[in-house]
Amino acid sequence: MKLILLGAPGAGKGTQAKYVCEKFAIPQISTGDMLRAAVKAGTPLGLEAKAIMDAGGLVRDDIIIGLVKERIAEADCANGFLFDGFPRTIPQAEAMQAAGVTIDYVVEIDVPDEAIIDRMSGRRVHVASGRTYHVKYNPPKAEGVDDETGEALIQREDDKAETVKKRLDVYHEQTEVLVGFYSKMAAGGDASAPKYVRIDGTQTVDAVRDTLIAALV
Ligand code: AP5
Repeated sequence: MKLILLGAPGAGKGTQAKYVCEKFAIPQISTGDMLRAAVKAGTPLGLEAKAIMDAGGLVRDDIIIGLVKERIAEADCANGFLFDGFPRTIPQAEAMQAAGVTIDYVVEIDVPDEAIIDRMSGRRVHVASGRTYHVKYNPPKAEGVDDETGEALIQREDDKAETVKKRLDVYHEQTEVLVGFYSKMAAGGDASAPKYVRIDGTQTVDAVRDTLIAALV
């Protein structure tokens, strides 16, 4: 199983990725998590990426493509993987095609911008694992701490309202075009093209999960 979760920032890609990866025993490849790990480790990539991420922009395609190619060559990707937050531009999608990476499903999680702003203000994350909560819609068992480790949850720097608006603009300018790119590919009749699935992401977390899993099995 190789799939792409496509959607605006805050659409619920990370939340749903956990369920899909558990169900199909595949790794979640989140370019956002990889970049945040590099920022935390203070690597040259992390130093370059931090300012871009904090401002809500996109990290350069060549850097991201290199990171992903290295990651999918690792042994745990032999039976598939889930891309979360990648590809995010046409050049990133074309680089995967050029590298011969075939995808089974592209799943678009569709949520309008108004709902995104509300979601981001209440998001809390466990940095080490990437687990994501929401103070109202998906709360942890105990306030402010991760369910599995008991460690503190934080609010991401780029979840401030102004940065979220910028990230949404960037999504509409550079990433949303992938909806047309993949849905046209799916409709083209080529047997190796990915199937395209669109899900209403305004449903509850559990309802999105059930619709998504049902579409994949
Ligand atoms: P990244 O980490 O990928 O951020 P993103 O795409 O903006 O996505 P998010 O993680 O913000 O949202 P999500 O869709 O995973 O939503 P979540 O499940 O958390 O990227 C960060 C930055 O890194 C980028 O801005 C860019 O700078 C850089 N970057 C990353 N990849 C890149 C690439 N390929 N190329 C270039 N640059 C790249 O849910 C959000 C909230 O809503 C949570 O609180 C959750 O609990 C809640 N929620 C989820 N589902 C529901 C529901 N159904 N109902 C109610 N609440 C819900």
